[in-house]
Amino acid sequence: MSAGFVQAAYIVAALLFIMSLAGLSKHETAKAGCWYGIVGMAIALVATIFGPETHGHWWIIIAMVIGAVLGIQRALKVEMTEMPELVAILHSFVGLAAVLVGFNSYFAPHGITDSVMQNIHDVEVFLGIFIGAVTFTGSIVAFGKLRGIINSKALALPHRHKLNLAAVVVSVLLMITFVGDASLFPLILMTIIALAFGWHLVASIGGADMPVVVSMLNSYSGWAAAAAGFMLNNDLLIVTGALVGSSGAILSYIMCKAMNRSFISVIAGGFGNDVQASSDEEQGEHRETNAEEVAEMLKNAGSVIITPGYGMAVAQAQYPVAEITQKLREKGVNVRFGIHPVAGRLPGHMNVLLAEAKVPYDIVLEMDEINEDFPETDVVLVIGANDTVNPAALDDPNSPIAGMPVLEVWKAQNVIVFKRSMAVGYAGVQNPLFFKDNTQMLFGDAKERVDDILKAL
Ligand code: TAP
Repeated sequence: MSAGFVQAAYIVAALLFIMSLAGLSKHETAKAGCWYGIVGMAIALVATIFGPETHGHWWIIIAMVIGAVLGIQRALKVEMTEMPELVAILHSFVGLAAVLVGFNSYFAPHGITDSVMQNIHDVEVFLGIFIGAVTFTGSIVAFGKLRGIINSKALALPHRHKLNLAAVVVSVLLMITFVGDASLFPLILMTIIALAFGWHLVASIGGADMPVVVSMLNSYSGWAAAAAGFMLNNDLLIVTGALVGSSGAILSYIMCKAMNRSFISVIAGGFGNDVQASSDEEQGEHRETNAEEVAEMLKNAGSVIITPGYGMAVAQAQYPVAEITQKLREKGVNVRFGIHPVAGRLPGHMNVLLAEAKVPYDIVLEMDEINEDFPETDVVLVIGANDTVNPAALDDPNSPIAGMPVLEVWKAQNVIVFKRSMAVGYAGVQNPLFFKDNTQMLFGDAKERVDDILKAL
């Protein structure tokens, strides 16, 4: 394939990636968005592999076959609830790849004679390895936290902000040394510091701030890929990396806004961790109900709002939830869904599950669109949600989730909370909602309980 043809293919692929992002921004076009991405990536791979600069095709094919076998195996097995972990570990691969490409560029003969170009090359190598190493260990910690192997609470080392600052300052000094003499020592020292920095950065972010971490690492992995693109002289990798990097950064910003967090303080390691005075102790008496009573309440309701959370995903309760919705709508009940921006464990988690169960898009509303309607609502079904409906976020300035906007479900006439026990949610704080007079607990697996209600209906 000629160089010109490869460039043309790259432009087509870049356009497809942009169309993919545009498609993914709406429910209705998300599927098409995925396809644009797949086709774009296939074009990019074929053009790169058969381009004039690529050698050792057999090695590439062997690596791709091994990668594809492992990837397909994992993808077929992964549960929807494990998706964020998978995404986190995949980000770590991008980081590791950038580190390896960086060292490879350092060692490989590149034939640069011009001193300015040599300096630019050194900066590319240094930054590529730095970003890659931070992404690599940061993503591994995020994976561990999401999987529950590493404690999800924020690690609070003494002087943690100073440690982070020191890591950055020393790395900058090492870069100045490296660009001067291109010796291996500063590069290796910086790699060790960057690995520790990435680890510490994510370890010190905890609880409810984890969603921002995942999207932030997504952004870092994009910048790591872009840095690799500079080192490999591959325009498409630069464009793709920049698209991933900037869309990840925008997503992180949007999520911070949704959670009333300051972006800078989250990425600097653990906003609000200094005020973890809240406990997970129970705060009074709770009332229990059963499926028959809830079915009766729903039959007599004029308007119902369902606020799903992580527990709905664990229980895979979205199908019976969709059936109940349809049944109640047929009886003339106004049923709508209220989706918190960080419900579940990944952006859009609830939207994906509800779309999978064919719940109509127009009754699935964002938190901001529905929050004012709770006072006029007869029944709210909180299905496996906890932190996202916790009034302590608004009432208790000492809560680790203080300041996070939540679905104000307690303002409705009746609230039914579906969960298996009085256990806390992801952020590890007790929820005063469970002890309010208008709240009743429906204990058990969310899918089983929703099935029971369906039968009773
Ligand atoms: P959570 O606060 O995580 O609470 C989920 C609740 O579901 C738990 O209290 C659990 O109680 C219940 N549950 C679990 N399995 C269940 C089952 N089979 N049947 C019934 N209930 C079940 O959920 P949320 O309100 O969706 O909040 C999400 C949290 O995750 C936030 O803190 C958010 O910051 C964090 N987070 C979000 C993301 C993104 S991007 N969305 C990423 C990482 C972290 P029991 O154990 O008593 O059943």
